[in-house]
Amino acid sequence: MDRVFSGIQPTGVPTLGNYLGAIRNWVPMQDDHDCIFCVVDLHAITVWQEPKLFAAQTREMAAALLACGLDPQKCILFVQSHVHAHARLAWIFNCVARLGWLNRMTQFKDKAGKNSEQVSSGLYVYPNLMAADIHAYHALKVPVGDDQKQHLELANDIAQKFNHDYGVEFFPTIQPLIQGVAARVMSLRDGTKKMSKSDPSDASRINLTDSADEIAQKIRRAKTDPEPLPSELAGLEARPEARNLVGILAAITDSTPQDVLRDHGGKGFGQYKEVLTEALVAHLGPIREEMARLLQDHAALDAALRIGADRAAAIADPIVTEAERIVGFLPR
Ligand code: TYM
Repeated sequence: MDRVFSGIQPTGVPTLGNYLGAIRNWVPMQDDHDCIFCVVDLHAITVWQEPKLFAAQTREMAAALLACGLDPQKCILFVQSHVHAHARLAWIFNCVARLGWLNRMTQFKDKAGKNSEQVSSGLYVYPNLMAADIHAYHALKVPVGDDQKQHLELANDIAQKFNHDYGVEFFPTIQPLIQGVAARVMSLRDGTKKMSKSDPSDASRINLTDSADEIAQKIRRAKTDPEPLPSELAGLEARPEARNLVGILAAITDSTPQDVLRDHGGKGFGQYKEVLTEALVAHLGPIREEMARLLQDHAALDAALRIGADRAAAIADPIVTEAERIVGFLPR
C-alpha cells in the first residue's frame, strides 16, 4: 500500500474549506492506503499563538478529525511536536533549500504582506518543515487543497537536491492529490479569496462547530449577485460567488456542478440558499455532535494521540537517522 501523509494546522476550528478540500478526501483513503495524518502545531507557531488557547485548539483539531471519520485503527493520527524527527529533518532541509526557492512562495508573500521584515523566520522556512513532514515517512501521496500545490512542488525540489548533492536515491518523488470541485472553497464574503480559519470575519466561513442557526445565517448573508442561477456551467463565468456556492453543494452532495445547475438552474439565490443550508446542516450536524462528545474525555483523546505519536516515530526515526548518516553526522 502506498503511504499517504497530510497535515492541518491547529490555528482554529476546521472550516468547510479544510473539510471539503482535504479532510473528507482523507477518510476513504484509510481503507486502501497506509495513512498518516498530523496536527501540525510546529507550523502553527510560525505566527503568534496564545499558549493556553493553543493547547486546547490542538486537542480540538484532533477531535474534529476523528469526528470527520479518521479512525486510529485504520490510520496514524498524531501531533507533530510529539515526534522529533520532523524538526531534525527540517533543519537538514533548511540547509538544502535555496533562498531563491523560498522567495518564490506565494503563500509567504500573502501572509507576510507588506510586513515581511516583522514576521518570524519560521514563517519563511515553513515549506521546508512541510517537506520534512512528508519525507520523514517516505510518503508517496499527499492529499491537500489547491493552496498547498506550490509547497509540494518545493518538497520535490528539496528531495531531488538532497539526492543529487549526496549521490543517493533516498527521498522519493511525491504525488500531490488535489481533488474535486472543492479543492478551493472560497470566502462567503468575497468569492475571490479562499475560505480560511484565520480570516478576521467569522461570517466568511462555515466552521465545523457552527450550529444549524449559525450555518443558516452565514449562508443567508453570503455574498451573491442579482442574477438567478444559470442552467449551464458557462453561466458561472465571472460569477465567483455563485460558482463557489454551486461547488459547495456539489461537493457536499457528492455530485457535480453540472448536476446542481440541472436541478437548480433558474432559481433565485433566496431559494437556492435554503437548499444549500439544509444540505450543510444535515451533513455537518453529526460531525459537530461527535466532536462535542469526543471533547468530553480529554484523557482518552490524549492517550490516542500518544499512541499515534509512538507509531509515527517508529516509522520516521529510522528514516531521519539514515538521512543524518547520509549527511555525515557522527553517530552517537
Ligand atoms: P491548513 O491547515 O491551512 O489546511 C489544511 C488543509 O485544508 C486545505 N484547505 C482548503 N481546501 C479547499 N478550500 C479551502 N478554502 C481550503 N483551506 C484550506 C489545505 O489545502 C490543506 O490541505 N501547510 C498545511 C499543513 C501541512 C501539510 C504538511 C499538508 C503541514 N505539513 C504536509 C500536507 C503535507 C496547511 O497550512 O494546511
